[in-house]
Amino acid sequence: MDLASHQDNILILDFGSQYTQLLARRVREANVYSSILPFNASITQIKRLRPKGLILSGGPSSSYHLGAPKASPKLFSLGIPILGICYGMQVIVQTKGGKVSGTTEREYGPATLKLDDTTDLFDQIGGKHTRTAVWMSHGDRIDRLPSGFTSIAHTANAPIAAMCDRTRRIFGLQFHPEVIHTPKGAQILRNFIYRVCGCSGTWNTTSWIDPMVATVRKQARSGRIICALSGGVDSTVAAALTHRAVGDRLTCVFVNNGLLRANEAQFVLHSLRTHLDLNLRYVDASQQFLRALKGVEDPERKRKIIGREFIRVFETEAKNINALSNESPVSYLVQGTLYPDVVESGATLGPSAVIKTHHNVGGLPSRMKLKVIEPLRNLFKDEVRRLGTELGLPDAMIWRQPFPGPGLAIRIIGPVTRPSLKILREADTIVQEEVKPAGLGRKVWQAFAVLIPVRTVGIRGDKRSYEHVVAVRAVQSDDGMTADWVRLPHDLLGRIAHRITNEVKGVNRVVYDLSTKPPGTIEWE
Ligand code: XMP
Repeated sequence: MDLASHQDNILILDFGSQYTQLLARRVREANVYSSILPFNASITQIKRLRPKGLILSGGPSSSYHLGAPKASPKLFSLGIPILGICYGMQVIVQTKGGKVSGTTEREYGPATLKLDDTTDLFDQIGGKHTRTAVWMSHGDRIDRLPSGFTSIAHTANAPIAAMCDRTRRIFGLQFHPEVIHTPKGAQILRNFIYRVCGCSGTWNTTSWIDPMVATVRKQARSGRIICALSGGVDSTVAAALTHRAVGDRLTCVFVNNGLLRANEAQFVLHSLRTHLDLNLRYVDASQQFLRALKGVEDPERKRKIIGREFIRVFETEAKNINALSNESPVSYLVQGTLYPDVVESGATLGPSAVIKTHHNVGGLPSRMKLKVIEPLRNLFKDEVRRLGTELGLPDAMIWRQPFPGPGLAIRIIGPVTRPSLKILREADTIVQEEVKPAGLGRKVWQAFAVLIPVRTVGIRGDKRSYEHVVAVRAVQSDDGMTADWVRLPHDLLGRIAHRITNEVKGVNRVVYDLSTKPPGTIEWE
């Protein structure tokens, strides 16, 4: 979906920085659309998006090294403003004839920036000579500016920490304005977006809906459409939006794979039926999934089996839907793919590593020969949540914690059995019941229980017990890509442990997971 054609767009060219996605988010937080292309995107590709400004991202390379990604000189003939950040600034300097060199005085972390010129980029930060905290992450420095450029700020270690060529509207920052450790970073980006590029700030939820609906309508002109609906925010919002576009040609399929949390199927069905007027099919395939998972320990095998069974269920459902109707057969599949999935799968990346290959329900489309429609593929999770609110979905649906597709199968270490599912569901219910009223609200990205297949000795009613361990995990995160453990109050942790060991038969020990991501992950598997 080309939302860019409906909006002002700030285009980011990715030179491999870990912060590229964050930059796009920051621009969008300033109500301007932003998208990412690789650093070597063709000029035709760039022009097609009609960007109002370009940002050249940071990157891990040294610009003077052989093979380091270069900027096309043609970028500077487009006549639009350009902002280079960190490596992006060095690339500008090199391309325009200045000099960058390595230094022993590497700067990583906080630094104090002293402003030398507050005309545009540093407007509303303070007057000339103001000091402001910034986040540095570079080993190279600019020795000589290209002709036409002047330095507009410096730090103790970087005599040229920001630069501009006002006539050609080209700017550079040696530091990272997109990270929270640069407190005035948002204002600096706003200055670029609004003062320099002249954007109008119309990127907001109301303005998304009509073009998105129109695009889905164009993509699925005829034929039936199915949507794999899990009850999670992404697939629910994707379904609601698609329903607006194609009405009753859409059929949603909610599969109970036997790996859902306690009462989850009822909750999801109830809220979908109450709040969305959809054709909804409920398939209880618990037996089929649990049979296929019998005795399987390896988490990757579990995932593959679950993916395969999903395909089988959907194939059957597509046939059933086709048999029920004289209309044209099912030809499209709607998925709730988000922008980070697209970026991580490498579609927009420059030289930065592909983090993981995006997958949804185990590769349904290729086997089923359905065309995929991904209405949310340009949005971040927080934007999807705002869109959901705009579409009239209730908070209880929009703010549900993320839950993995393979469900409780990856929260039971070792083979999945009905007794282990029972233990985990009961323990998890207690975690939910205790964490929710603690008023931590949206600070908790996810809180859940994990069943560890070891047994340890305990004492229960004067008798020796030999029972399982449950791990409790609560994390805070912006997007699931990094995470920290939540400092839950000790009393709350104590209550959770007490209730689990007393109320859940088969558990005599509870531990709290203090790992961050990285190096851990959110799920245990
Ligand atoms: P990890 O464990 O990789 O998880 O730190 C990051 C986020 O993704 C969720 N997750 C999944 N979601 N299918 C999904 O739809 C999956 O296979 C899957 N695995 C992990 C996890 O719950 C966390 O929010």
